[in-house]
Amino acid sequence: MIVEGLAPQSIALAVRLLRAGELVGLPTETVYGLAANADDAAAVAKVFQAKGRPADHPLIVHVLGHAQVAHFARDVPAVADALMQAFWPGPLTVILPRRAGVAVAAAGGQDSIGLRCPAHPVVRAVLKACQEAGATDDGEPLWGLAAPSANQFGRVSPTTAAHVQSEFGEPLLILDGGACSVGIESTIVDCTRGAPVVLRPGAISRAQVEEVARAASQPSPRLQETPAAPRASGTLESHYAPRAKVRLMNAPSLQSALDLLGADLDAGNTVIATYSRAILRSRSSKVIRRRMPDDAVATAQQLFAVLREFDAQGAQLIWVETPPEGPEWEGVRDRLQRAAAA
Ligand code: TXA
Ligand code: MG
Repeated sequence: MIVEGLAPQSIALAVRLLRAGELVGLPTETVYGLAANADDAAAVAKVFQAKGRPADHPLIVHVLGHAQVAHFARDVPAVADALMQAFWPGPLTVILPRRAGVAVAAAGGQDSIGLRCPAHPVVRAVLKACQEAGATDDGEPLWGLAAPSANQFGRVSPTTAAHVQSEFGEPLLILDGGACSVGIESTIVDCTRGAPVVLRPGAISRAQVEEVARAASQPSPRLQETPAAPRASGTLESHYAPRAKVRLMNAPSLQSALDLLGADLDAGNTVIATYSRAILRSRSSKVIRRRMPDDAVATAQQLFAVLREFDAQGAQLIWVETPPEGPEWEGVRDRLQRAAAA
């Protein structure tokens, strides 16, 4: 059921369900999440089950602010503190050493915990209500919400309430907060290994992370090249995949591929969707053409919705122009490369 996210009765209902160990679909500024009380192992198990996600893939825990960090983290390295000061609330997740015995299931058994303080007003209102005394039966606040992206494991993340409903159906309560403004998942920085490591690029660029890390006089972060522990499902090679087969090509190759098809395509059944910055020509009515914005922020914002739209239009092949090289395109490039690897 989709309800108006900011309505007080929606927030109250969401908190009631969360404290009863149920799941709720929530908007964040990056993508929609499937939320559960992070300290309730049975509720967290429902998240893994609903997503079809292996239980050893850790979930991100969402908190209202810095005051909640000490409940989950054993230690906050100086660089993590600097990153949280710089980018919270916002699309940044920090991996910290986990306090023993806390949020074990949400952490997928890792001795670390991923924490994020989101900026979207709806999830903030829910987190704020969760902080009120007596939010749980033992009189404690509800400290944080474990919330992976609200999609089936390996599929495209949802950026609208309707996307979430198409993944989990009518029974799930979904707070509608409009289309997500960022559109791709948070930047994840692992702060448990000395030098900070960017595990997943996002709207906050590696350069921005580096700058803050340098100011906190830490060694420069590097993007993880080899799949090392701990496991992060957003870092699996094939992920964020629509049903159609995705191929990345530069603009001239894309145009040649379309020219080669010519009008033949109309005879067959294959529907091809293209998503590019270039203006492409095609003689086939079976080609759906969609222009990618010139800037990375706008492309990220619509990326997952466009992939879902192509699926809904019956495309079997999605041909995408390789995004530009610039650092601001890193998050979009990363998601498209993973979609193409599926
Ligand atoms: O933008 C986002 O981060 C969205 C919204 C809902 O906040 N959430 C999201 O969650 O993308 P999820 O679970 O789909 O992706 C979280 C990523 C996963 O790849 C997970 O494995 C990784 O964060 N992660 C979480 N805790 C971790 C930990 N302790 N160590 C390493 N990776 C961790
Ligand atoms: Mg995900």
